[in-house]
Amino acid sequence: MNKILTTVLSLGVAASAALAADGAITAVKVANVKDATVWAKAKFSSITLYPQTAIEFNDKKANVLTENMKAKKANVAAVYDGKNIALRVKWTDKTKDVEQCMVSDVYTDGFAVQFAGATKKPQPLPYIGMGSIGRPVVVHLQKATAKVYEPNGNKDVGMQINRQQAGVFLEELAVFDAKVASLAKTDYERVFVGEGFRSLTEVKDGSIKSNGAMTHGPNGWAGTLTRALKDDYVNLNGTVPVSIAVWDGSTMGRNGLKNLSAWVAITLEGQKQDVGMVADLTTGSKGNATKGKAVVEANGCNGCHQMTASDAKTFMGPSLKNVGGYSSAAYLRESIVKPSAVVVPGYNRNAHRNMPWYNLEKGKRISTMSEYGHLSKEDVEDMVAYLLTFKAEVE
Ligand code: HEC
Repeated sequence: MNKILTTVLSLGVAASAALAADGAITAVKVANVKDATVWAKAKFSSITLYPQTAIEFNDKKANVLTENMKAKKANVAAVYDGKNIALRVKWTDKTKDVEQCMVSDVYTDGFAVQFAGATKKPQPLPYIGMGSIGRPVVVHLQKATAKVYEPNGNKDVGMQINRQQAGVFLEELAVFDAKVASLAKTDYERVFVGEGFRSLTEVKDGSIKSNGAMTHGPNGWAGTLTRALKDDYVNLNGTVPVSIAVWDGSTMGRNGLKNLSAWVAITLEGQKQDVGMVADLTTGSKGNATKGKAVVEANGCNGCHQMTASDAKTFMGPSLKNVGGYSSAAYLRESIVKPSAVVVPGYNRNAHRNMPWYNLEKGKRISTMSEYGHLSKEDVEDMVAYLLTFKAEVE
């Protein structure tokens, strides 16, 4: 009996070692994820975070700063216990940009960890970053924060009262200062749920139990996020798809202006691996990228899309120059054959009034991109293989 068990175990190890490619991570089982020493035992894997460039920002200065944004490497490890999962993410960032009191023109470093919401079928995975209709995501956001005052006690870190404008003096000012100091916060942590663009909603009722933290060292940031394995929104077991984002305040990163990883498959050690999902997230496409380039050219895709950095910008559709970095092959396939399954809505309808990316039909967003379902499976797959090569180099 013992012997069989050993064989089975060693097979398991071989299989997971073979899958330890970019895109697959094992969460080590530990007694308590809140014990800080667990990170010494955890196995860090390198993943790549690509600049999100699909939608140009409505901010010239930020656009210039991030025009040729490079991809970033991050080291990620995961652990879990009977109740919680914890992730630790380390990335380089030489400048420390923190949320502060009394300045509103400073952008903040930060990171986010995204989980796929519980659905009957785990795949197809939700749209990266926003989720999609019927395929929700839960996003945990942690920003770097100095001591900030929020005198109204509503966690409105961005709406602090300027001491100079408080209108109180002398002893009253001392009382005011004491009150404010007692309310000072050093944390900016938020949880959102999303089910498609423009649906992102903060969860404020405490039904999601989590804790995020960030520390800055000589080489950059280390961020940790701990959350319950199970709540009203997620049910994490077997293989858990996770995506990581980081923001750099020094290049005015905020909202969509960030580096983002593709979905990464984290398998909870000792639990059943979702082999299909791991394969989907690690193997890419069997298509032929060279042929795919010809199919793309024949179909005039670049009439609406900026495809490589040297292509002219077009506002007819999202830029695809990094789409291969954070998208799965399955998502790209779907985007070509059924563009309206997930609609990227565009950022600024006022600036490009005559170039809507979707129209409303009976309340549903219908993409202005036509469906390419008439193309052969082979042609579509070759295009997917080609699109997967669209990504910035690593810094
Ligand atoms: C008429 C303009 C037009 C043409 C031609 C066109 N697209 Fe699109 N495409 C769009 C628009 C608009 C969107 C955004 C709305 C949506 O999500 O469908 C989009 C979205 C996409 C996306 C998803 C992008 C993202 O950031 O998630 C991919 C991938 C894509 N197109 C690939 C292609 C390929 C490949 C072709 C050629 C076979 C093509 N498109 C042809 C307009 C076009």
